[in-house]
Amino acid sequence: MNVDLVRKQIPVTSRRAYFDNAGTGPPSIPVLNAINEYMADWREYGENWEEWLPLIIESRRLFGKMIGGAALDEVASVPNVTSALTALASSLHYKPSGNIVISELNFPTNIYLWHLQKKHGRAKDVRLLHRDQNGTIPLEQWEKAIDDDTSIVSVDYVSWTNGCREKIREIAKIAHEHDAFVIADSFHSLGVFPLDVRQDGVDALVCGMYKWMQGPHGAAFVYTKHDRLKDLDPNYVGWHGVQDSVVRRLTSQQDLFGKPFNIEETVPAPDATMFEGGSWGVSQSRLGIRVET
Ligand SMILES: Cc1ncc(COP(=O)(O)O)c(C=O)c1O
Repeated sequence: MNVDLVRKQIPVTSRRAYFDNAGTGPPSIPVLNAINEYMADWREYGENWEEWLPLIIESRRLFGKMIGGAALDEVASVPNVTSALTALASSLHYKPSGNIVISELNFPTNIYLWHLQKKHGRAKDVRLLHRDQNGTIPLEQWEKAIDDDTSIVSVDYVSWTNGCREKIREIAKIAHEHDAFVIADSFHSLGVFPLDVRQDGVDALVCGMYKWMQGPHGAAFVYTKHDRLKDLDPNYVGWHGVQDSVVRRLTSQQDLFGKPFNIEETVPAPDATMFEGGSWGVSQSRLGIRVET
């Protein structure tokens, strides 16, 4: 890799040594071009869903590729990590009188929402693990906290607060020995080191684009392992999260608005798109395609 050429693609680096990717990454020229192309398209044509929807689908495919080859139906495009985690939390099966195991090194969203599940009676106990004097949570602590009553283990690949890299594979293995569902937030790992959801053994993965992926705010993805999708039962869905959605009509060559939507019942999408509530940030989806080409 030619570092000078890469730096040329990221305008801010001509003036600064940029150290804040952990907050928001700076955009590259292909990213800026993709946003500008979208703006021009929108300015010239207004609504253009027939062209935009395939970009959404393509962005899911590319994200699946980046996390080690997830299938298209395992990936959903969502606005941010917080909405991805909330969508998962409101769809999961909770064991009666069960517990949830999380780490104090998780980003606060990935802590707050689990306390609320206890408040609303979906968990009896939230086990918040605390770091030791080295700033890490030894595997033994996870082993001690996770038991047969654990419904969910939710952990960040790399901590936002001290950069601690968790032993995701080992944690997932322990969780699965107790039939718990494993969620991993990869916001500080994707774009930093290679990821493989299958090898890591996580059931769901969430990731935003605005840090190490150097994309814009308003773009994130959620992956859910194929054989776990059938266990999900969402409490909330929107018009893009149902079985008969505009995207599904497009992919089966139907007229997007050619027949009325069935509003007599709600049938969530059978795949990860059940998490795609409302309209996407289309400019964000263009980015994935630009970045690859
Ligand atoms: C690990 C991690 N997860 C989630 C978030 C917040 O994500 P979002 O703003 O997309 O909800 C952050 C923000 O710093 C983070 O570091």
